[in-house]
Order: sequence, then C-alpha cells, then structure tokens
Amino acid sequence: MARLRLGVLISGRGSNLQSLIEAAAAPAYPAEIALVISNEPGAKGLERAAAAGLAQRTIDHRDFDSRPAFESALTAALTEAEVGLVCLAGFMRLLTDRFVAHWDRRLVNIHPSLLPAFKGIHVHERVLAAGVRFSGCTVHYVVPEMDSGPIIVQAAVPVAGADDADSLAARVLKAEHRIYPLAVRWIAEGRVRIEGERVAVDGIAAPRSGLMNPSDDGRLVL
Ligand code: GRF
Repeated sequence: MARLRLGVLISGRGSNLQSLIEAAAAPAYPAEIALVISNEPGAKGLERAAAAGLAQRTIDHRDFDSRPAFESALTAALTEAEVGLVCLAGFMRLLTDRFVAHWDRRLVNIHPSLLPAFKGIHVHERVLAAGVRFSGCTVHYVVPEMDSGPIIVQAAVPVAGADDADSLAARVLKAEHRIYPLAVRWIAEGRVRIEGERVAVDGIAAPRSGLMNPSDDGRLVL
C-alpha cells in the first residue's frame, strides 16, 4: 500500500521531526516524510532533514505581507509535494482559520501538556507552579482554536519534587518522541476516526492500570 505522505512543519530544534524520521526509516512504517518546511532560516531541524536526505524548504513568514500570503505559500509547497497529512512539530506560527479549514482532518499537532490543561507557551513552568503531580503530552487534530481539537493520544509523565522546567521538559519530550510516530502510524493505518469532538482509535485499547504520584511503586492497579 502507498505510504501516507507527510509534510512536517518546524521552527526550531526538530527533535519531534527526528522521531518521525527514525520511525519512517523502517520499511514497514506506513508513512514517509515528503517535505519538511521551516519558517525559520537556519533551524536545527533543517540539518536533521538534510542528514536524512529529505526534501526541505525554508518559507520565512517575514518575506510575506500577511499571514494568509505566508500560508498560501505553505499550502502551495505542501500540495506540490502531494502531502496527505501535515504534522506541526514545534511550528511557532499561529494558523488562520482558512489554513486550518483547508487542511481539515489532515493537520495534527503535538503539545507538551495533557490538554486541555496548559495550552500555549511556557507550559512546564506553569505546570510546576500549579503543583500538579502529572504532566505529559498530547497529539491532536488541529482546529482554529489554539491547542484544541480532537485528541488522538496522550502520554502521562510524573512530575518529580526536584524537577525544574528543563528536567520536566526533557521527561515529557521523551514521551513526545514515542507518541507522535505512534499517532501518525495509526492515522496512516486508517484506524483513527473523528467522532465529533472525540477520536476513536480502532483496535487499540486503554491501558489496564493507572498511576499514582507520589506512590511507593508508581502504579495504581484498578
Ligand atoms: C515540543 O515540546 C512540542 O511539543 C512543542 O514544541 C516543542 C518542539 O520541540 N509543540 P522540537 O522542535 O520537536 O524538538
């Protein structure tokens, strides 16, 4: 079967891009990266794309008079590359309703919190300030409202007493690198159905145990 063609949009480091590159290196993975686009010239993620031999473009938003003009250039490049799914991976531009509507159900994002908690930026600082015992990450379909939209998969990670924003971010990032390739796999396999505000993933069950924090062994058998 043809592999799902991904367009990955980045602005910086590109570690989530890297996780998709590594997943797609396996011949059995049902998706491939057709194009990487950065809005930031010199983004580290572009080096990762080059090292993997991927097609890449820099489309600098500062070169355009308006957000719609910038996004038209994005859509043109993605369409030319015959992209079937757009993956936002640390892409730091807000998107217009028009762009989101154009790519409706073909546009996903990863966010470093358990949405709908802690939308926006400076997530880990706010998580620590709130004193919650778990944080995590979310892969979701994109809708016009920022960091909203049907949730495909989440991973929970414990917050440790000694955490600072960097140590927590690193722990969450490891989970991000697990769940983004997984969500894309499920989409490519045709398992993911949007049902209103929710997503059903065919053939994938919820885990049988929960977690507790603080806890002697971290597990909560239910
Ligand atoms: C990740 O934490 C992602 O969840 C958020 O931006 C960060 C991007 O990191 N949207 P990277 O560029 O993928 O390393």
